[in-house]
Amino acid sequence: KPCTAILLSAGQGKRLGADRPKQYLEVGGHPLIAYSLQCLERSPLICQIILVVGAEDIEWVQTRIVERYQCSKVTAVVPGGKERYESVWKGLAHVREKEGYVLIHDGARPFLTEEILERGYETVERWGACVAGMPSKDTVKLVGEDLTAQTTPPRDRVWTIQTPQIFSYSLIFRAYESLLQKKEIQVTDDAMVVEQESGRRVKVFEGSYRNIKVTTAEDLEVADVFLKAK
Ligand code: CTP
Ligand code: MG
Repeated sequence: KPCTAILLSAGQGKRLGADRPKQYLEVGGHPLIAYSLQCLERSPLICQIILVVGAEDIEWVQTRIVERYQCSKVTAVVPGGKERYESVWKGLAHVREKEGYVLIHDGARPFLTEEILERGYETVERWGACVAGMPSKDTVKLVGEDLTAQTTPPRDRVWTIQTPQIFSYSLIFRAYESLLQKKEIQVTDDAMVVEQESGRRVKVFEGSYRNIKVTTAEDLEVADVFLKAK
């Protein structure tokens, strides 16, 4: 089945605090967003790419990213929303292949690879809903507001979740449609939307320890080292 990619690039990068959104910062000679975009463009598994960007960046992205990197699979560069889930919803409106799969990826994760896409595609074919993740290297504790440790889940069952997250279009569309009816919305990833709104189990497949999200200034240094090593 055909798979459409939604590449999210409408965040402001407040935790990084640069003078522009982190996905447009040049690292290793190219804007961060260009790396995962080119991986999706080259992958035989992806039929269409939807780029969700800040309303003020549409023209810049069209010329400085889509045209410069000759991304012929990009069929839409559309404005996102204030929250990540709003940006995903705006992207979903432009999916053409409604019988296929939708892959959602953070533009701030430049280290997407064809191997990750292949593992994800295999998993979505079997399960209909899946997310990339890796076993946590650190022990995780839930901490109270008073900063006392409350509980410690067994470390071998704790996985940190990445993107891509891949779903049947009908499943993810219905889950988001239902989410947006709610008054209070608190979600941090797409799997959570499916878990909450459809009750469906979401399968975790192996991403990569390199598949980091550039979130703070330290991550930018790591990304620079990874890109130089390539
Ligand atoms: N994103 C988006 N629309 C939003 C918020 C986030 O498309 N309203 C995208 C970001 O561009 C990023 C991905 O979702 O590629 C993951 O979000 P995050 O790491 O939180 O990025 P920002 O929201 O930009 O950063 P911050 O939370 O520090 O402001
Ligand atoms: Mg954010």
